[in-house]
Amino acid sequence: MEHNNNRFHGYLTEQMNSWLNKISGISALNKAFASFPLTSELKPVLDEISVEFSKLDKLIQLIENMNKDVSFDGILNYIYSTFSEFIPYSHIGIALLKDNGRVLEGSYGRSDEALESLPKKLVGLRAEVSETSLVGIVRDGTPRVINDLYSYTQHKDAQYNRILIEAGIKSSITLPLKVNEKPIGIIFFSNTNKDVYREEHIEFLKTLSNSIAISLNKNIFIDEMLYSTLLALTKMAEARDEDTGDHLERMKEYSVRITEFLIEDNMYEEEITIAFLKGIERFSPMHDIGKVGVKDGVLLKPGRLTDDEFGEMKKHVIYGVDVLKTAEKNIAKQKYSMFKMGIEIVEGHHEKWNGTGYPYRKAGTDIPLSARIVAIADVLDALTSKRPYKDAYNFEESMNYIINEKGRHFDPYIIESLIKHKKEMKILYDSFQNNEPSE
Ligand code: C2E
Ligand code: SIN
Ligand code: SIN
Ligand code: FE
Repeated sequence: MEHNNNRFHGYLTEQMNSWLNKISGISALNKAFASFPLTSELKPVLDEISVEFSKLDKLIQLIENMNKDVSFDGILNYIYSTFSEFIPYSHIGIALLKDNGRVLEGSYGRSDEALESLPKKLVGLRAEVSETSLVGIVRDGTPRVINDLYSYTQHKDAQYNRILIEAGIKSSITLPLKVNEKPIGIIFFSNTNKDVYREEHIEFLKTLSNSIAISLNKNIFIDEMLYSTLLALTKMAEARDEDTGDHLERMKEYSVRITEFLIEDNMYEEEITIAFLKGIERFSPMHDIGKVGVKDGVLLKPGRLTDDEFGEMKKHVIYGVDVLKTAEKNIAKQKYSMFKMGIEIVEGHHEKWNGTGYPYRKAGTDIPLSARIVAIADVLDALTSKRPYKDAYNFEESMNYIINEKGRHFDPYIIESLIKHKKEMKILYDSFQNNEPSE
């Protein structure tokens, strides 16, 4: 396993370095700032406009920060805490253009503690650009100031405006985000007081938005590259065991469907946001990424494992966490974790509700919800599939086993919801039986 781990760490590092080289173009900007002619003639002028200069200084720091830290949420946190001295805002939101520019999708948000749930509500929300008042901002690139959101939206009924008003937002500035003159989305700064935004704010935020757009663009690239490499790694690990077939795809579908059942049944409403659902979709297929580190002799053994072998097998959880954390170390230096949910799923998918699982014998809601969902999907697919060590059980037998584990292996609330939606789950299961495994 030593051998396997080294191989994958090496591969990861190599990929990471080549992308990081490609995206470091922004360092030219830093050099430009560094050579700014800060001579004695300039000094008095700068003193006079010391406030302005301090803003510039903050901006330089920001750009440096962007260079070092490619985690966009980290950057957004930094922006949020740094610029509130200059601009009155209680929420910053970013919506990106999707579907060839037809749709704006809430993508990032950061707010005061008092408005904590606002970013969660806006992220994932979609609006047709042509049907919103945002069309002018996106198409013409004109910033817009609203100093009384309530009267502004009297005759409009966009869902995001309702959410903003309910949260107590009264004014906002919305600006386009552009990369090489091409719009990629919008950013808005909002406040819970009326009439706080003035012309001077716009000029400053225009400059800031340009930097943000560059950073954002850079990050989308890294996120996607990194994510697809990790998924490729998982597929590679999975491919060693031919019988698992389309296991990753089924895992994703089962996990997403169970999450949708919970949404329908209004369960775990606080935790399950659109972003949560997307995380499940992205990361559930990675739950066994650590199997890359398990020896063939154990992983592919046609019969039952000895205790020692199962001990080895269990380490796939630790290996998996290690792979994701290594990947993350290569890109992000801030507290924010792009793989937060991925790590939770990998680490927690073999824990059991009653505390008898592994590796940490966590119990109940100490096990992250994402992992509790994926655990059920994992066992459902393992039971209904042929493995080197077992035959496939049918859907009824497998569901009965899972339902019987309610409150023991599995979260009883999720099992309740699954029982209610058993028929729908059967339909999903059946849809997989018609497709022959691709191998
Ligand atoms: P896996 O095959 O993907 O199975 C995932 C989980 O589904 C298992 O986690 C277990 O909770 C459940 N499961 C799978 N098959 C059965 C079964 O026949 N009966 C019951 N009651 N539950 C089942 P677990 O046990 O922690 O195992 C983790 C991984 O270790 C498995 O992933 C598999 O790769 C390997 N493994 C487990 N037992 C054996 C074995 O006896 N022989 C071999 N060759 N591999 C095993
Ligand atoms: C959001 O406000 O985050 C979403 C905005 C939009 O869809 O236009
Ligand atoms: C937004 O544009 O999504 C925020 C509210 C507004 O400026 O209309
Ligand atoms: Fe596993």
